[in-house]
Amino acid sequence: MDKYEFTKDWFSNRESDWWESFGYLSAGTVHAMEIGSLEGRSAMWMLEHLLVQQESTLTCIDLFSNPVVEARFDTNLQASGKAHKVTKLSGPSWTHLRNLRPGQFDLIYIDGSHHGRDVLEDGVLSFRLVKPGGFLIFDDYPWRNEDHSVYPKDAIDAFLYLYRDDVRVLQKKWQVFLQKM
Ligand SMILES: C[S@@+](CC[C@H](N)C(=O)[O-])C[C@H]1O[C@@H](n2cnc3c(N)ncnc32)[C@H](O)[C@@H]1O
Repeated sequence: MDKYEFTKDWFSNRESDWWESFGYLSAGTVHAMEIGSLEGRSAMWMLEHLLVQQESTLTCIDLFSNPVVEARFDTNLQASGKAHKVTKLSGPSWTHLRNLRPGQFDLIYIDGSHHGRDVLEDGVLSFRLVKPGGFLIFDDYPWRNEDHSVYPKDAIDAFLYLYRDDVRVLQKKWQVFLQKM
């Protein structure tokens, strides 16, 4: 990961969990999506480790509202040499998630807006987009700050309750890993 430029690191301490749960996917074609790309740290890790087969793809959704951060994402993507695998979608996730084909993704990583209502909407819309047997990953399950009154945990707990017959919980730590039945 030395060839990349990052100013934030909210992902490297999750890599071992990802590798343990999803590393085996790298042997085949993987169609992944992430909601919340920032500078591309999680995206570059996925490209380097999970999306290694030629046909594998990554869809990155972000507001990309800060041009400096977006330029860093773009530079990192070029440095990866794998830009041809990536579809970049700018704007709020809810505008894009409704327009994507259901059942097309093997893995969806939800790390965009941390407002509970947005997390719930991202989860519900992503559930339709992931294949049966595919994976949904929610980040920041216990995260809180003073700006929000509704947090990821509220949304993830509601999602886990409402979809209890439709998902298998693989991990419930800082990140929650689910498999769609
Ligand atoms: C925690 S950062 C993502 C970190 C990234 N996954 C990584 O590992 O470095 C959250 C990102 O979500 C984006 N975001 C916030 N609200 C969003 C929304 N409604 N739709 C899409 N992206 C959003 C922000 O612009 C920010 O880049």
